Amino acid sequence: MSTSTALDWLTANQPASIDRWIDWLKIPSISTDPAYRDKCRDAAEWCRARLEDLGFKAWLAETGDVDAAGRGSGHPVVMATIDPAPSYQGPHVLFYGHYDVQPVDPIDLWESPPFEPVLRDAKPGEGGGRRVVARGAVDDKGQVMTFLEACRAWKETTGHPTGGARYTIMIEGEEESGSMNLPRFVKDHKKSLANCDVCLISDTGMLGRNQPAITYGVRGLAYTQVTLHAANQDLHSGLWGGRCPNPITELARVLAKLHDDKRRITIPGFYKGVVPLSKQERANWKKLKFNAAAALKKIGLPKAADIGEAGYTAMEREWGRPTAEINGIWGGYTGPGAKTVIPAHASAKVSFRLVANQDPRKVTKLFFAWCRKHTPPGCRWELVDHHGGFGVTTPIDSPAMQAASRALRSASGKSPALIKSGGSIPVAGMLKDVLGLDTIFMGFGLDDDRVHSPNEKFEVDCFTLGCRAHAAFFGELAAS
Ligand code: BES
Ligand code: MN
Ligand code: MN
Repeated sequence: MSTSTALDWLTANQPASIDRWIDWLKIPSISTDPAYRDKCRDAAEWCRARLEDLGFKAWLAETGDVDAAGRGSGHPVVMATIDPAPSYQGPHVLFYGHYDVQPVDPIDLWESPPFEPVLRDAKPGEGGGRRVVARGAVDDKGQVMTFLEACRAWKETTGHPTGGARYTIMIEGEEESGSMNLPRFVKDHKKSLANCDVCLISDTGMLGRNQPAITYGVRGLAYTQVTLHAANQDLHSGLWGGRCPNPITELARVLAKLHDDKRRITIPGFYKGVVPLSKQERANWKKLKFNAAAALKKIGLPKAADIGEAGYTAMEREWGRPTAEINGIWGGYTGPGAKTVIPAHASAKVSFRLVANQDPRKVTKLFFAWCRKHTPPGCRWELVDHHGGFGVTTPIDSPAMQAASRALRSASGKSPALIKSGGSIPVAGMLKDVLGLDTIFMGFGLDDDRVHSPNEKFEVDCFTLGCRAHAAFFGELAAS
C-alpha cells in the first residue's frame, strides 16, 4: 500500500524531481582537478542539505590529512543516518554513491555546456527518449538522485524517508579519481559502518532499454603510468636518428609485447588467481542474448571489430576476463606542422581490469618487473602506481538480492536480468575486505549514455525507473 502511494507521488511530482536533479548537475564537481576543489565541497554540501531536508541526520566527513582549520586534504564524504521505525526488522543498508564527476574534455565536442544541464527529446536517429544532458547526468549524480527522490516520495507520503528502513548513506567525492582517501576513511569509520548488513550502489547500467538488471559483480583496476627516458636532451633526428634509442619507438615496441597473438596478456603470473568462468555462468550469460554486433554498430564499428582475448565472447571478455589497456601515450612533438626531433622521453598510461581475486598491487608489481625486464638498451624507466581496487562478485541468492529483484519487478513490471559489468567501483572491494560487506549494484544507465564522454546523458525513463525501484525497495525492506 505504502509503496504504491510513493510510486504515485513520484509520477505526480516528476517535473520537480527533474528540477532538483538539474540543480545539482550545475555544480562542477570535478574531483581530479584541484581548480574545482571548492566546487566539490559545494556539491557535497548541496547533497548534505537535501538529506537533511528529508529528515536524515547528515554531515560532511573530512578525508585525508585534516588541517588546523578542520579541512581535509581530500574531498569530503557526505554521511547520513536515519532512525528506523521501531518495528523495523530488516537489514541495515549502506547506500553508497559519488557526487564527483569526470573532467569535461574534449570541451568542443559538447553540444551544450557540460554544467548547464539541458532537458530535451531525442534527436532524429539518436534513439531513446527524453533525457538530461550534462556531465554527471548519469554518473553518478543522476543515479544518486533516484535514491533521494525515492526518499522524498516516502517522506511526503508517510513521514519517513526510507519507509522505516534502516539506512546509512555515504556519498563520496573522489570516486572518479580513484577513491584515494577512501581506504583510510572506511578503516577509520569501521565501527559505525560495520553495523551495516549490505551495501547498495546505483552507479551501473541495465542490460538495455527497458531491460532492468541487477549487477552482481564489477572488475578491479590497477592504474599505472610509465615513462621511458633516453638521452638527457631532445635531439635532431637527422643527426641522431638511427644512432641512439628513440624512446617513443622503444616504448611502442615494449607495449606492443603486452599481448600475444591470441590477445592474451604476456606478463608472467598475470593470470594467477583468475578463476576460470564456470560452465553455468557462461550458459547463463548466453541466455541474455547480448548482440555484440549491434553494440559495435552503435559505436561506429563493423562486426569484424569484435576482437579480444581468443576463446571468449564479448560479454565474457567484459564481465569475466582481465584486460590490459593503454589509455594514453605521448611524447615528442605534437604541435602544428613538422619538427624533426627525437625526444628525451616518452610516456604512457597503462591500466589493467581485474577479476576474481587478482590483487591490484601485485598486478602493478608484476607489470613493473616486466617493464624492467624489457628495458630497451641504454634507456631508463620511471614507473608510477596511480591507484587500484579489487573487483567483487556478489552472491546472487541472498535475501537482500531477492528483495532488490522484487523491487525492480514491481517498479518496472519485468524480472531483472542478472548481469556483471566490466567497469570498476573501488569502494565495493574495500567494503568486502574491511567489513565483509557484499554489494548489490542496482543501476539504471544505458551503454550509450556517454559516461565520461562529451554529451553525457541520462534518459528520463531510466531516471524514473531508478526512483521507482528505490521506492519499491524501501517497501520490500519494511516487509522483511
Ligand atoms: N560508475 C562508473 C563505473 C561503471 C560504469 C560501472 C558503468 C558499471 C557500468 C564509475 O564511476 C567509474 O567510472 N569507475 C572508474 C574507476 C575509477 C577508479 C576511476 C572506471 O571504471 O574506470
Ligand atoms: Mn560512477
Ligand atoms: Mn565514472
